[in-house]
Amino acid sequence: MAANYNEKSKFLVIGATGYLGKYMVKASVSLGYPTYAYVRPINPNTSPSKLQLHKEFESLGITIFQGELNDHDKLVHVFKQVDVVISVLALPQVMDQLNIIKAIKEAGNIKRFIPSEFGTEIDSTKGLPPFDALLERKRKIRRATEDAGIPFTFVAANSFAAYFVDYLIRPHEKRQEVVVYGSGEAKAVLSYEEDVAAYTIKAGMDPRVENRLIICRAPGHVTTQLDLISSWEKKTGRTLKRVHVSEEEILKLSETLPYPDNVPVSILHNIFIKGDQMSFELTDNDLEASKLYPDYNYTSVDDLLNICLVSPPETKLTALY
Ligand SMILES: NC(=O)c1ccc[n+]([C@@H]2O[C@H](COP(=O)([O-])OP(=O)(O)OC[C@H]3O[C@@H](n4cnc5c(N)ncnc54)[C@H](OP(=O)(O)O)[C@@H]3O)[C@@H](O)[C@H]2O)c1
Repeated sequence: MAANYNEKSKFLVIGATGYLGKYMVKASVSLGYPTYAYVRPINPNTSPSKLQLHKEFESLGITIFQGELNDHDKLVHVFKQVDVVISVLALPQVMDQLNIIKAIKEAGNIKRFIPSEFGTEIDSTKGLPPFDALLERKRKIRRATEDAGIPFTFVAANSFAAYFVDYLIRPHEKRQEVVVYGSGEAKAVLSYEEDVAAYTIKAGMDPRVENRLIICRAPGHVTTQLDLISSWEKKTGRTLKRVHVSEEEILKLSETLPYPDNVPVSILHNIFIKGDQMSFELTDNDLEASKLYPDYNYTSVDDLLNICLVSPPETKLTALY
């Protein structure tokens, strides 16, 4: 039966203090939804920066619930007070979402669950083994969500733009060289994190996307490494020497490096050499985010480069996915 949506739906974000989580709660607040965050309990080891973030959330009117991911009763108790659950948990916590699914089922009132995916479309791609092992965990959560019979939306955001633009060309640095993976001509989708969060929040209340997959592939988000470098060169008046790393080298690294160092190279292979994000056509039946929400003014890669040159958004370069 279709869920009953209303304007006052309450949004809960799990993993709210994380990289994407911060964008997510801010999008929820700015779209006017009562917003809640489920965070790990504060303890003597909680970092001052996290405590500061909690304060910032509270000043935005966000209600914070503290709890562990394995505290079933707590999860059920919290879920009963909200309508939409969005998980932006980190990769190591992906399988913990089985606890979330179980608690949503028991709570019985959740109108929409959006699990932590926000990457390449997992059912349409096959990565090299180190990357595919990560995708497989997200596929398991998709299947468990579907099997649980709870209303869901899956969001295939493709690559985070601020993160990958920074990773690929470090736009604010005065460098002489840039590394290009493969020929640099494969098309990839670089979706700005703020746009991903806005689309996701809009989807949480949208009956058109109930039990459906949304793919973020706005025209201004599609680019190649070579186009990105050329745009940067035009904007800065500087020229970068392109240092190509061949597909063979990347394949070898993905086979010989130990875990977890073999993961980033496998991801780079999938996105920037194989071009998997653009390897399938979208049909009229597919839901593309910028078409679903045409009034939303998304940030193209070109606009993002301008932003990066003036004041780069905060990105984390510790892990690739
Ligand atoms: N498409 C792309 O380019 C791209 C890039 C990066 C990430 N992603 C995806 O985006 C999603 C979110 O990733 P992210 O990088 O934003 O995550 P993140 O910043 O690493 O972490 C998100 C949150 O997970 C919670 N968490 C971390 N360790 C935990 C633990 N041991 N127990 C319980 N909770 C824990 C924390 O929330 P609290 O401290 O508030 O409890 C943390 O703030 C993932 O699915 C990831 O694969 C995609």
